[in-house]
Amino acid sequence: MADNRHGGIAILDYGSQYTQLIARRIREQNVYAAPYPWDADEDAIFELEPQGIVLSGGPNSVYDDRAPTLPNWVLHSGLPVLGVCYGMQLLTHTLGGEVHPATDREYGNATFHQFEELGASLFTGLPPDLDVWMSHGDRIEKAPAGFISLGESDNSPLAAIGHADLQIYGVQFHPEVTHTRYGTDILRNFVLHICHCEPHWTAEAFIEQAVRDIQEQVGRRRVILGLSGGVDSMVTAKLLNEAVGDQLTAIFIDNGLMRHNEPENVVRTFHKHNQAELITVDASDRFLKALANVTEPERKRKIIGELFVRVFEETAAETGGAEFLAQGTIYPDVIESAGKERPAAHVIKTHHNVGGLPEDMALELVEPLRYLFKDEVRRVGLQLGLPESQVWRQPFPGPGLAIRCLGEVTPERLERLRKADYIFRQVLEQHELLRETAQCYAGLLSVRTVGVQGDQRTYAEAVVLRAVVTEDFMTAEWARLPYEVLAEASSKIVNQVAGVNRVVYDITTKPPATIEWE
Ligand code: XMP
Repeated sequence: MADNRHGGIAILDYGSQYTQLIARRIREQNVYAAPYPWDADEDAIFELEPQGIVLSGGPNSVYDDRAPTLPNWVLHSGLPVLGVCYGMQLLTHTLGGEVHPATDREYGNATFHQFEELGASLFTGLPPDLDVWMSHGDRIEKAPAGFISLGESDNSPLAAIGHADLQIYGVQFHPEVTHTRYGTDILRNFVLHICHCEPHWTAEAFIEQAVRDIQEQVGRRRVILGLSGGVDSMVTAKLLNEAVGDQLTAIFIDNGLMRHNEPENVVRTFHKHNQAELITVDASDRFLKALANVTEPERKRKIIGELFVRVFEETAAETGGAEFLAQGTIYPDVIESAGKERPAAHVIKTHHNVGGLPEDMALELVEPLRYLFKDEVRRVGLQLGLPESQVWRQPFPGPGLAIRCLGEVTPERLERLRKADYIFRQVLEQHELLRETAQCYAGLLSVRTVGVQGDQRTYAEAVVLRAVVTEDFMTAEWARLPYEVLAEASSKIVNQVAGVNRVVYDITTKPPATIEWE
């Protein structure tokens, strides 16, 4: 059977911060879409036989000296094209229309009035006035020959253009952002009705194909997998289990830095959903010993990362004979690490899965989630029968509680932190607020504060509560939790956690703060 990524959409990335969002919105229509650098090799793009092309937005003006251009093959391909913002300006400029700097930069919400239907057009089924999101300096003054105007906004007389015969369209606004109310419908019209893509990119189809691919890659040989407890590694494990269950050995290292009941839950969930072998290594003493008297955050990270690799290597050597290492690498990791699919991309942050295992382990990688976004991994997890609590588990950093236990990491302080964190998350869950936050936790501060408890002066530790809302974890807003919920968490923590006499709530955005405190 054909690869179900075939027959989707290729997105040429002109540097917009929203490019990945375009791919996600299209994939929500069960059509595969992947971003490529705008100057990517044409053959690499055509390997997946796309049925349409989207040109993303970008920070340049088409008149900039080194502005990225439209590759010749795009128009020669005869495929439908949708240009978004810079993509639209580029189409206009290349096809002989006119793009000029606007007197006012248009940024933010705008109303788009559509005034013409173009057969199977972008706006079929949508109201005449649409709330849209604009972010541009240049604007189209004259459409290229053969194109007609599809609508206007206050600042853009040609806010959408189209050529019915060529099936080339452009929109000045951003249909991929949620501020554009019917944006997803516009993208759906493009991929389903203009490009005629088959909506076959589903969790079910993905699983079928991933299982076949794993079987083909692995054959009868053995695979090891580092289980972290996160959704990515759990879904990877489940796929491997389905494909080559009796050849898989999963390794779970308990570093003593996990949250309340977490190691037990990871092991229980694994066994409940997989028949494959799981080796659990209790290395908590080793980790705590290595962290004794260490207070500097980066040193904590380094010690934990290195020790993790050592313990994993030792355990893998004991199990023996594996030729493959399965990892829960997902698409944003690939994009951010400027993987081989994106040679020109700027390296934002190198992700080291399974703690950055050394290359001399000589294991071939199996990465079935390599092309999935997080929300797709969750859908696949649900389809595979994993429980909601696992599938919606919030991200938890590799160094675990060590970077939330500010200052020294001792068993006593970790226990205090574990209790406070558990109480906070329980309270949020009871108020059905856990899913409203992207990440929430308690941290133990490295200060002691004066308090009074039952006529006694206390000099004890302070806990910080952190809850954030974010889509991409690169920027974040602090969650506006109701005062009553914060009051309940605070009161339970100071009453139930010995050695804590004060609770504060972190009201800082990222940037300038980060989500974690260390
Ligand atoms: P920051 O604190 O940088 O966190 O705003 C962004 C996201 O990354 C997680 N994080 C880590 N994950 N190892 C990890 O595996 C780390 O050292 C690490 N530091 C931060 C953090 O929990 C948040 O989701």
